[in-house]
Order: sequence, then structure tokens, then C-alpha cells
Amino acid sequence: MSKTLTIALSKGRIFKDTLPLLKHAGIEPIDDPETSRKLILDTNVEHIKLVIVRASDVPTYVEYGAADLGVSGKDVLMEHGGEGVYEPLDLHIAKCKLMVAGRPGMTAAGSRLRIATKFVKSAQRYYAEKGEQVEIIKLYGSMELAPIVGLADAIVDLVDTGNTLRANGLEPLEHIADVSSRLIVNKASLKTKSGMIKAFIKQMTEAVELNLLESNK
Ligand code: ATP
Ligand code: PRP
Repeated sequence: MSKTLTIALSKGRIFKDTLPLLKHAGIEPIDDPETSRKLILDTNVEHIKLVIVRASDVPTYVEYGAADLGVSGKDVLMEHGGEGVYEPLDLHIAKCKLMVAGRPGMTAAGSRLRIATKFVKSAQRYYAEKGEQVEIIKLYGSMELAPIVGLADAIVDLVDTGNTLRANGLEPLEHIADVSSRLIVNKASLKTKSGMIKAFIKQMTEAVELNLLESNK
């Protein structure tokens, strides 16, 4: 039986914010994914490997056991449907909000709203719970453009500082969910590699607590 632990991470924000947490757990990658073309990164701990995948693919790799663990935004987990993986720890990194945004003063005025988003399931769920019928238009990026060019009345997107919205003449209108990144675990790995995974979760929990203390200073 393999005793390697594989952790799925995406490049950019999640990798950058997870590094200090991993460091606290004594894990440091040998290569930098921003400069290396490698998709499997060795670490200073022989049995721990990092695999670099698209942010929206992390839950899939973990659900199917191609990775034992992963770090994934709550927005991505809400779209994926989190029931295929365990979600034992909020890492309190990559924090933002999933929101409805549009032009200032935008109203539906009786007609069916058109909502552009890459978060189709979350948007559908949100409007269904409000009892509002809307038309969802799936986009893969640059959502802010949609209301400007008349493709949609509003968007459902992630908002942190609000700078992207402001730069495009839009404003946040409705809060859907708070988002942060979560540690996720493959269900079978939790049984077959229980000791290693529990030790890792414990170290990451301590690292998150330290991180929070540092950021509140
Ligand atoms: P993919 O490559 O799969 O399309 P992506 O380009 O959205 O994913 P990132 O931009 O790296 O990937 O975002 C990864 C995660 O970081 C998101 O799922 C979300 O949880 C969080 N995030 C996104 N934008 C922000 C932001 N502006 N501030 C803080 N956290 C953010
Ligand atoms: C994210 C998100 C928003 C922006 C919000 O984009 O899709 O466009 O951040 O952050 P703000 O409120 O601080 O402006 P990101 O910067 O990750 O670019 P990308 O997802 O389009 O690559």
C-alpha cells in the first residue's frame, strides 16, 4: 500500500496562501509552480507530493482519490457539490464573498433578470431560494463585462476589495455567501492513511490558528 500523501493545489492565490501553512507543518516544495512546468512537485518531506491543478478541478482530483487532500475555495466546493469529499478545516485564506453585482440602481422592473456567471449552480440555488425566476448565462471569466455590453442585467461573481466592480462601473448588490479556502480530504484515504492524514490536519489546524493570531496583531 502506498504511503505517499498527495495534496492538490492550484497555482496563484491558493498556492501562495497555503505555503505558510504547509511550512508550519514542516512541508516545503522543492520547485516553485510559478516558474516550473512540473505538475507534480516534490517536497522536503519524501512521502508528501503536491499536484498542481486548475482551482475548479481540485475537488474532482480529491473525490476520485487522484489526490488524498486538496485546498479548494468554498465557491468551487459549492459548485462541485461538496458531498464527495470531507471538508474538515476552514483555512481562512483567499477570503472573499460571492455576490450579485450590477449597475447602480439596477432593478428587475417586472421582467425576468438575466444573470451572467461562472457559478451557475450557486446562482440557480440562490434565486430559487428567493423564489425569483431568472435566466442564467454561463460565462468562464470577465463577468464584469456582461452588464456593460448588455449581455446580462447583473452578474454573480467573487468580490474582495470591490476594485474590479468599481473599475467597470458596477457595484455589489446582494450577498450570497462568504468564501474562504477549505482543506478537503478523500473519503477512502481518510481510512487507509488515517494516521498520516489526522496528523496533517492537526498540524494545519495549528498553522491556521497561528496565522489568525498573526493577522489580528
Ligand atoms: P480556475 O483556474 O479553475 O478558473 P480561478 O482562476 O478562479 O480558477 P483563482 O483566481 O486562483 O482561480 O482563485 C482561486 C480561489 O481563490 C477562488 O476559488 C476563490 O475561492 C478565491 N478567490 C478568488 N478571487 C479572490 C479575490 N479577489 N480575493 C480573495 N480570494 C479570491
Ligand atoms: C477575482 C474575481 C473578481 C476579483 C474580485 O478575479 O473573479 O474578478 O477577483 O476581487 P476584487 O473585489 O478585490 O477586485 P482574479 O483577480 O482572481 O482574476 P481571474 O479570476 O479573472 O483570473
